[in-house]
Amino acid sequence: MSAVTTPVQIRYEVRDLGLAASGRQRIEWAAREMPVLRQLRQRFSQERPLAGIRISACCHVTTETANLAIALKAAGADAVLIASNPLSTQDDVAASLVVDHGIPVFALKGEDTATYLRHVQIALDHCPQIIVDDGSDVVATMIKERPELIKDMMGTTEETTTGIVRLKAMLKAGVLTFPAMAVNDAETKHFFDNRYGTGQSTLDGIVRATNILLAGKTIVVAGYGWCGKGVADRAKGMGANVIVTEINPVAAIEAAMDGFRVMPMIDAAAYGDIFITVTGNKHVIRREHFLAMKDGAIVCNSGHFDIEIDLVALAELSTGKRTVRNFTEEYSLEGKTVIVLGQGRLVNLAAAEGHPASVMDMSFANQALAVEYLVKNYGKLEPGIYNIPVELDQQIASIKLAAMGIGIDTLTADQKHYISSWDEGTE
Ligand code: ADE
Repeated sequence: MSAVTTPVQIRYEVRDLGLAASGRQRIEWAAREMPVLRQLRQRFSQERPLAGIRISACCHVTTETANLAIALKAAGADAVLIASNPLSTQDDVAASLVVDHGIPVFALKGEDTATYLRHVQIALDHCPQIIVDDGSDVVATMIKERPELIKDMMGTTEETTTGIVRLKAMLKAGVLTFPAMAVNDAETKHFFDNRYGTGQSTLDGIVRATNILLAGKTIVVAGYGWCGKGVADRAKGMGANVIVTEINPVAAIEAAMDGFRVMPMIDAAAYGDIFITVTGNKHVIRREHFLAMKDGAIVCNSGHFDIEIDLVALAELSTGKRTVRNFTEEYSLEGKTVIVLGQGRLVNLAAAEGHPASVMDMSFANQALAVEYLVKNYGKLEPGIYNIPVELDQQIASIKLAAMGIGIDTLTADQKHYISSWDEGTE
């Protein structure tokens, strides 16, 4: 399908505009669980802080992202949206954004890599002043292939750990010449989205793809960062025996003291019924691990890129491959099978709907406030990677708490004095 123009003269490339009604209903459903973003949208529509600002957003096109896009548009932004992963787009959401909100969307579930890359170019054709990125592909492509566009850039906001790792490498290499907001590093982002969001949605993806019982299974979780912690904890809660693999000795101790067995992947390979990679690194599961696995082992990834499982090695070891359910492929090796979910792409977004709205509420409130911050501070920020200001993080947490109906204590004057002084100790 190629880009076309609607009666309202916007370009788009989505699966089927006829899906818009379903998308609209689901976007509204997600909005109920997004009180922080709702408040921001209301303020944005009065103050219009992004009036006329060209934004290219590269995100998973989900109901939650739709609510972010609607908030940016309410703020006056001239935004286009492309998919940040070939398998994560919800086609009905993409259709509704075009039809109901007039937002140019370029995203198709199952798009091939060439289409994905073409959409990245379309995002750049928009001559963005701000890039809202998830994985840093748009920023990296701008720097590598279209550096003449950099002069218009006010900055970028980055959603994921993987994207921030790439931004740090760009900064070190001297090629990041505009400010970047590390949205992922806000406490109200990674404590909740990475941990509870990835924890729940990863298991959701596995269950939707396979319909297997998790209780009693041995689940191997590769990586014990915030995402790994969430996945391991939720898998334990579902009655699985969880093994963690790590390369970081501190994280490995943490996993052990959280009650998980910790061992190298080559040993875990023989035990696992299900393998989940959440490391951000490549080839975490490779040839020797496939060879050591049990018949019927299920392998999937919830890290940003589809490089954690070495599928080329698996294909080389295999005599055949067949699709046995949606997003579920069975590879035949000598005498056994290995099952791969979602082609090694993010299983939570490929086979399920990604993180639930309640956590994306805080992540995307951070995104929206980060964009506003870049615009407000244009010309004042040196090139570099910036954290979301603590006051904004706290503000998001306070609104979320209020929406959850939870009250907390406040410091007395005496306590405030105590925690900012040094002279009171042992009496
Ligand atoms: N990343 C993980 N889950 C997501 C969601 N529901 N929407 C957008 N990005 C996501």
